[in-house]
Amino acid sequence: MNSGLEGIVAAETALSHVDGEAGELVIRGWRIEELAGRRSFEGMLSLLWTGLAPGWNDEADPRRVLGRARERAFAIAEPLFPALPDLAPVERLRLLLSALGDGEETPHPLLAVAAMPVFIAGLERLRQGAAPVAPDPRLSQAADFLRMLRGASASAAHVQALDTYLVTVADHGLNASTFAARIIASTRAGLFSAVIGALCALKGPLHGGAPGPVLDMLDAIGTAENIEPWLTGALAEKRRLMGFGHRVYRTRDPRADILKRVVIGLRGEGNRIRFAEAVEAVALRLLAARRQGRSLDTNVEFYTALLLEALGLPRAVFTSVFAMGRVAGWTAHILEQEREGRLIRPLSAYTGPAAGAA
Ligand code: ACO
Repeated sequence: MNSGLEGIVAAETALSHVDGEAGELVIRGWRIEELAGRRSFEGMLSLLWTGLAPGWNDEADPRRVLGRARERAFAIAEPLFPALPDLAPVERLRLLLSALGDGEETPHPLLAVAAMPVFIAGLERLRQGAAPVAPDPRLSQAADFLRMLRGASASAAHVQALDTYLVTVADHGLNASTFAARIIASTRAGLFSAVIGALCALKGPLHGGAPGPVLDMLDAIGTAENIEPWLTGALAEKRRLMGFGHRVYRTRDPRADILKRVVIGLRGEGNRIRFAEAVEAVALRLLAARRQGRSLDTNVEFYTALLLEALGLPRAVFTSVFAMGRVAGWTAHILEQEREGRLIRPLSAYTGPAAGAA
């Protein structure tokens, strides 16, 4: 019995591969370094959905069609915004996604992808006491999200940084949320149900809920002098250092370096890259000293936190913004599972009393 399913191959996919020993992420034949910063998020969608979504191919320009789907998502959400209960942002996102019914009409994955920025920006504006802003279908997903969130156009540098982030996190093998999506898709429950299930898996701190706590950790450390004592104390108390360690990578997560370069390129308020680098260096040294034989390195969430903070996003929406990128991969995996997969139904090892002993 392997409770964490380490090393178990549970799906066949043509979408992405994580080589944990080499520290390599390949998406449809491209290394992630060849995609991030070179392809737009819309281009990444085309790459992932080719041959899976109806009428989709790698040459398609999904920008306009995605923009129109954002308008549709806004029309669905607008009457619901004022009625939402006071929940955490990612839980309110989950609630709004539930308004997209699996059975109402053929649920196109485009609506799932388009709904994310519309819902996240609208929810955050409401939290700040401002009215949600309607989408502009002419803009890219990244540019429109920042505009809807801020109520004003974002700089080209900010749009590019967010776009690179969305591409970097778009897909990543059989991570926990993608696996959850494929399990739900395997029962033929429907696309939106699978996306909502994936979001529920993502929100945990051991998966996509980590970047907010990364900033909490940097805040708590506070000064350069406090780095070593704080981290030593946390490890002595058996706390996990957020943004470090990974189930598959035994070396550095290649996405961490991509995002680090983006943060370095973003100068200005909210960019505490030098302090973060100092924390990272001490954390890696302490983790290596404690855990000989098991490499614990920096994961994607450490520099995600720095990047999203540098873009001025509140940490309450970090997990939702991760979902805004990862929904590209979720939808591709759902389509692939629906097309080719069988019902996923493993076995469990029974540890209760023998029959008749109760
Ligand atoms: N800090 C301190 N110790 C750690 C860390 C960490 N970040 N990560 C793992 N360890 C320790 C564990 O406590 C465990 O120690 P033990 O054997 O004494 O109990 C040992 O290393 C092995 O850990 P596992 O839990 O078996 O590793 P697993 O593969 O299950 O966990 C995970 C991977 C969840 C990412 C883990 O490294 C972690 O909790 N990291 C911190 C949270 C985080 O950064 N999450 C984002 C992950 S990236 C992503 O999902 C997008």
